[in-house]
Amino acid sequence: MEYHTHSEGETEAVGEALARTLEPGAVIAFTGDLGAGKTAFTRGLARGLGLTGRVTSPTFTIVNEYEGGRLPLFHFDMYRLESSDELFDIGWEDYLRRGGVCAVEWSEKVSGALTGALRVDIRRGEGDSERVIIIQGSRQGDGSSLPLGQQEPSPCLPGKEA
Ligand SMILES: Nc1ncnc2c1ncn2[C@@H]1O[C@H](COP(=O)(O)OP(=O)(O)O)[C@@H](O)[C@H]1O
Ligand SMILES: [Mg+2]
Repeated sequence: MEYHTHSEGETEAVGEALARTLEPGAVIAFTGDLGAGKTAFTRGLARGLGLTGRVTSPTFTIVNEYEGGRLPLFHFDMYRLESSDELFDIGWEDYLRRGGVCAVEWSEKVSGALTGALRVDIRRGEGDSERVIIIQGSRQGDGSSLPLGQQEPSPCLPGKEA
C-alpha cells in the first residue's frame, strides 16, 4: 500500500489506522531518513492501540515501552546498534514474546533479522511536508522476526497458546 501525506497529523493517522489491524507479536520495521516521520507514525500507532502516554523518540534509551492499551507498544531506535548481533544484548526476543507491537526505527541497522516484519518505508515527497509511505509485508507476529536459529515456537506468540 502507498500513502501520500501532507502533514505530521496525516502521517499519524496512517499509523493509527494500521494499528487497528495489528495482532500480538507484530513487528513494524521502519526505513527512512532522519525527519522522515517514523516517530510521528509511531505516535499514531500508539493512539490506534489506545495508548495515552506521550510518545517520544527512544534515541538514548533504545526502547520505550507503552502499556495499558489494546496491545503494548515497544518502540525501538536501532540507530546506535552496529549489527543484528546486538539484538541479543537489548533483549529483542523477550520483547517479541511479550505479545505486543514492536515498532523499530532504523531497522536498516539490523536488516536481515526482521524478515517477517511489516515494512514501513517513509520518504520525502514534494516540498517540505509531503511524505510517501509504503507499507508491505506481514501483519501479524509469527516468530519469523526472531534471529535465525531462534525460531522455535514460543508460548507467547499468537496461535501457540494452549
Ligand atoms: N507529512 C509529514 N509526515 C510526518 N512528518 C512531517 C510531515 N511533514 C512534515 N513533517 C515534519 O517532519 C518531522 C518528522 O519527525 P519525526 O517523526 O521525529 O521523524 P523521524 O522519527 O523519522 O526522524 C517533524 O518535524 C514533522 O513535523
Ligand atoms: Mg524518530
